[in-house]
Amino acid sequence: ALVSLRQLLDHAAEHGYGMPAFNINNMEQMLSVMAAAKETDSPVIMQASRGARAFANDIVLSHLIKAAIELYPEVPVCMHQDHGNSEATCLSAITNGFSSVMMDGSLKADGKTPADFDYNATVTGRVAELSHMVGASTEGELGVLGSLETGMGDKEDGHGAEGVLSKEQLLTDPDEAVKFVKRTKVDALAIAMGTSHGAYKFSRKPTGDVLAIYRIKEIHERMPNVHLVMHGSSSVPQDLLDIINAYGGQMPQTFGVPVEEIVNGIKHGVRKVNIDTDCRMAITGAIRKFFAEKPAEFDPRSFMKPAMAAMQKVCKQRYEEFGAAGHG
Ligand code: G3H
Ligand code: 13P
Ligand code: NA
Ligand code: ZN
Repeated sequence: ALVSLRQLLDHAAEHGYGMPAFNINNMEQMLSVMAAAKETDSPVIMQASRGARAFANDIVLSHLIKAAIELYPEVPVCMHQDHGNSEATCLSAITNGFSSVMMDGSLKADGKTPADFDYNATVTGRVAELSHMVGASTEGELGVLGSLETGMGDKEDGHGAEGVLSKEQLLTDPDEAVKFVKRTKVDALAIAMGTSHGAYKFSRKPTGDVLAIYRIKEIHERMPNVHLVMHGSSSVPQDLLDIINAYGGQMPQTFGVPVEEIVNGIKHGVRKVNIDTDCRMAITGAIRKFFAEKPAEFDPRSFMKPAMAAMQKVCKQRYEEFGAAGHG
């Protein structure tokens, strides 16, 4: 059944687990997430970015959501807009069958200019009010994602803040977070604490000076009933990096968010954990390996199958590691 983000995260909070939210762009990724949820008896959050909607087409995506629910009627599914940049993006997601939206007002609608508190709270509050009228949920974001190592906003996928940011901008302020949730009435709040999108998050295994899990604790202490969201939470597993590079890839060495740090965050109010990069790497590694071993193959089904199995394996691991398994 299609459920809202609020329904899923309230349940997660009550039972003390975290929900991975996996990005999808096509049928294969949707089927991989659903198979992992079924296998582990977990609920589902699937999310589509603006780029995913442009790639897959809104009509196709809306039918993919319906297909997921029809295929697995017993699995609770939340379909979420990832990083909506405007009211129009968020509302059109809902009219296309999404049950939840992120209004990311931490940046202006251009996706690269850091926004002030008032702009963010105003636009996010409007989206929350409208989404609640139709039973959908809203996630907001306060603080700008980027690296505490370099001060750079994450813009490698063509979105994210431009230029060098201050530590103040890169860490969500607890007092502002309280004000923001009160004013906007969001169902979940994404906070900045040193993670960034994509594969290149940290130059070494992160320690507390660059991955500020302490900030999650400080915010959770101020608002124990607010569901917190971690973006940029791929772990960038070394084994997936090694498979890609063993079969012709050229990804530089890099480090993600260790699973044990996410689990620590879940102990302090993190309920939604966004993961895209790990799934991308699993798919790419499987396809590179397949073609290295079977260069004569040309049937797309032959390489899509191992790619889907690799993504399903990552999803299964996160469901188990975050404690969502068994709560489907
Ligand atoms: O926001 C980051 C997600 O990984 C989605 O990425 O905008 O390339 O689809 P995307
Ligand atoms: P990763 O790039 O770490 O997978 O983050 C995904 C994300 O935050 C999507 O909103
Ligand atoms: Na999101
Ligand atoms: Zn994100």
